[in-house]
Amino acid sequence: MALSRLNNLYMTLVTEHSKSPHHFGQLEGQEAIQLNNPTCGDVISLTLAVKDDTIEDIAFSGHGCAISTASASMMTDTVIGKTSAEALVLAELFSEMVQGQENANQSKLGDAAFMAGVSQFPQRVKCATLAWNALRKAIERSDDIS
Ligand code: FES
Repeated sequence: MALSRLNNLYMTLVTEHSKSPHHFGQLEGQEAIQLNNPTCGDVISLTLAVKDDTIEDIAFSGHGCAISTASASMMTDTVIGKTSAEALVLAELFSEMVQGQENANQSKLGDAAFMAGVSQFPQRVKCATLAWNALRKAIERSDDIS
């Protein structure tokens, strides 16, 4: 795909997901994991429902920039229905991708694969990975509970 077309798609997806984030809110009966971006102080709050080791539902809230909100929205779409182990692999894949490492499996990230362009802006990597890092913490905690 031509670079300008990719950039346009990236901008369109970030705008759409940040203006109308998917799975925004909090799941009832689930304790939230909170994580902040130390460089700006923005916070994400994430709730996760795991059953039989599968992510049945997920929701996020908090405040952050367009990139962090869009990234969180894309992440929720990507990980619902995945096992905890699969979600952790995707979190690692995403983290490597936004730090500039290409991987043939990037398409498994769904819309989140279009965040690859963030690697051109190192100061935004923490924005893009905030939700995925919160996901890792939430999965670690659900493993401790079960
Ligand atoms: Fe705070 Fe992006 S500037 S999360």
